[in-house]
Amino acid sequence: MSLRMIARLGNPVLLRPADPIDPDLVGAKDFQRLVDDMIETMMEAPGVGLAAPQVHESIRLFVMDPGDRDDSDVGLEILVNPRLSVPEDGDYLSLWEGCLSIPGLRGETLRHAAVDVDYLDRNGEPRRRRFEGFAAAVVQHEYDHLDGVLFLKRMPDLSLLAFDDQYARWFQDCGS
Ligand code: NI
Repeated sequence: MSLRMIARLGNPVLLRPADPIDPDLVGAKDFQRLVDDMIETMMEAPGVGLAAPQVHESIRLFVMDPGDRDDSDVGLEILVNPRLSVPEDGDYLSLWEGCLSIPGLRGETLRHAAVDVDYLDRNGEPRRRRFEGFAAAVVQHEYDHLDGVLFLKRMPDLSLLAFDDQYARWFQDCGS
């Protein structure tokens, strides 16, 4: 395994829609190595999610490990060719997000409070899972990377963008 370079804001790879993955290639050694490298890179950063375009691979894959913030108890997940749907009469969630491709900054976004996701796991098996709360926000953030969208576009109010230290000083205790 090895760490991958993370593309930063301004790199066109972050703005390009990523290509679907041929399910027959999921078992290939190169693909499995990429998955392992992405997990290692995410943990080293550290981050709660990492999408393939962020490591210069423009394909529809992301890894996430949102932990047990708000008790959602979602462990390490590897999602290939994910498709999202939003539950009817679904609620919204506003929270502060950061991104490994936009180091040092955080912003308040608006996300769906729950999402259903169809995807292939790293063995190519079809899965369906509902994610809620913080984990749902992570899924939407990483999924957006596959469409070339960054969290800045999900901010209703761009004045709620802050450096990490200023976020900690002025906003962290606001409850979001
Ligand atoms: Ni990101």
